[in-house]
Amino acid sequence: MSFSTLTIPVIAIDGPTASGKGTIAHRVAQALGWSVLDSGALYRLTALALLQQDADAADENAVADIAQALDVRFDGDQVWLNGNDVAAEIRLEDVGNLASRIAAYPAVRQALLERQRAFRTAPGLVADGRDMGTVVFPDAPLKVFLVADVAARAERRCKQLKVKGFSANLADLLKDMRSRDERDRTRANAPLVAAADAITVDSSTLTIDETVQQVLDLWSGLGFPKA
Ligand code: DC
Repeated sequence: MSFSTLTIPVIAIDGPTASGKGTIAHRVAQALGWSVLDSGALYRLTALALLQQDADAADENAVADIAQALDVRFDGDQVWLNGNDVAAEIRLEDVGNLASRIAAYPAVRQALLERQRAFRTAPGLVADGRDMGTVVFPDAPLKVFLVADVAARAERRCKQLKVKGFSANLADLLKDMRSRDERDRTRANAPLVAAADAITVDSSTLTIDETVQQVLDLWSGLGFPKA
């Protein structure tokens, strides 16, 4: 990372699954004219590539090799893996659950580190994930830890899946979400935890617009000059 890269501001938005990070990150990035990193998509893409290659999910080095070699392109709402748009496929619950499992491997996290940092381009980056503020962009001037209670998150995910035409069961989603949260929070490497200097925003009872506004207010409160 060069000095000039380090001067490009980053807003890190971390939090548990389905806390609304993705939507909020995209909206904040749009409002500021910045780029956006959906780091969870990289773990999901690794999981999908693993499934497609029928590789062994228990083999940490093999999974890390797949992560390192990912042929990926993000283009608006499209996510290309090996020339195919897999934006919908990576959102499937099975892919998300496998992503959470392989995200516990230090070698996989290391393989994806520089790829994530490369998204830091002028005039700024909004990065969403679990360890944006703690590991990937520890110098981010604004770190938001976005939470929402698990029932609210499961309901949101259920609605999202149904809108996209997938079948979804609220009780199963709640169960999966609890175990995924537990795994993401308790893994030894880069667990889901608020950075010491993060500001917690609870979106359980906030609309998307209200949550976006809170983040934008926090950013403008820091007094950075406009790009
Ligand atoms: O944000 P998401 O649900 O799309 O992420 C999918 C999984 O990837 C999540 O369960 C944990 C993992 N992940 C991670 O470990 N670190 C990140 N920065 C982003 C996601």
